[in-house]
Amino acid sequence: MKPLHFPDRDPDYVVDAKGVLDSRKLPDQSFLELWDAIIVDQPVKDRLLAQAVLNFTLRPKLKRSAAPFHGIILLVGPPGTGKTSLARGLASRTAETIRDQGKFRYIEVEPHALASAALGKSQQAVRHLLAEVVAEQASLGPLIVVLDEVETLAADRAKLSLEANPVDVHRATDAVLAQLDQLAAQYPQLLFIATSNFENAIDAAFVSRADLVEDIGLPTAGACERILTDTVMALAAVFPRIKNIVEDREFQQAIQHSVGLDARRIRKSVLAACARDKRTALDPGRLTAADILASVEQASRTSYGVRR
Ligand SMILES: Nc1ncnc2c1ncn2[C@@H]1O[C@H](COP(=O)(O)OP(=O)(O)OP(=O)(O)O)[C@@H](O)[C@H]1O
Ligand SMILES: [Mg+2]
Repeated sequence: MKPLHFPDRDPDYVVDAKGVLDSRKLPDQSFLELWDAIIVDQPVKDRLLAQAVLNFTLRPKLKRSAAPFHGIILLVGPPGTGKTSLARGLASRTAETIRDQGKFRYIEVEPHALASAALGKSQQAVRHLLAEVVAEQASLGPLIVVLDEVETLAADRAKLSLEANPVDVHRATDAVLAQLDQLAAQYPQLLFIATSNFENAIDAAFVSRADLVEDIGLPTAGACERILTDTVMALAAVFPRIKNIVEDREFQQAIQHSVGLDARRIRKSVLAACARDKRTALDPGRLTAADILASVEQASRTSYGVRR
């Protein structure tokens, strides 16, 4: 599958290989915007950035036997909590923060493209990607690799059932772990940022290799308020009439009802509120706090907004 977006990429940084969804140089403006758009408690962002920076400052200077960095940060949490956006944003913020190590490269792996390869092929595909593509890019200078939905690549071998997960998956996980060990030993300026919805589906040996595992939970009440307000303000930038609805009583109630929903659903509830009737859809400037409250209530009642 070819990269979907990113029209302004520098051709020198494009990696055309199976399993590579995106490649570019860092920092990248659109990634920095993602980092800012994701609302999580500040200590979470601080920890992530500090760990990523440390990977490039301390790790190259220490012997591996004394400091067994693997260069892996793992983000886990429910769907729609900002893991993929944070991973991309973190890559860019890290490159922006460290300015003395030359140009940073970025690769995003699409694990499904590897795992769905014909039986017996995924092991080779993974090996090719990590041992050749990633290794080559890492030899050129600092490299950050995002492994989105990593449970596809490093499936828990202990949980494989024979009919659903053939031996091939088992071998692919073994191959990933072996390659990661080799890469970690050879390239201290390499950082993997992995994400997963299913911490329990990831192989324990992979989780154990992570230098930091950060649980990105559902938004707190404070975060819900910021996410709802931010989404309304984005609409108000186009339809200024609605900017005052954040002061309405119903808006405060909507905040309370949004606790327990994921962040993506909260943003979508505001959009869905514009589609509650045809007139508001024709002119979203008619949106009211009551519309948002009704939409959030509906999301929290229905199965797709089920409280986890
Ligand atoms: N914490 C958050 N704060 C604000 N917006 C968020 C947050 N999390 C998610 N969103 C919104 O949801 C969109 C999707 O987020 P993203 O794809 O990063 O989530 P994810 O955790 O990777 O989801 P999935 O597990 O389904 O892959 C973002 O572009 C943003 O609009
Ligand atoms: Mg994701």
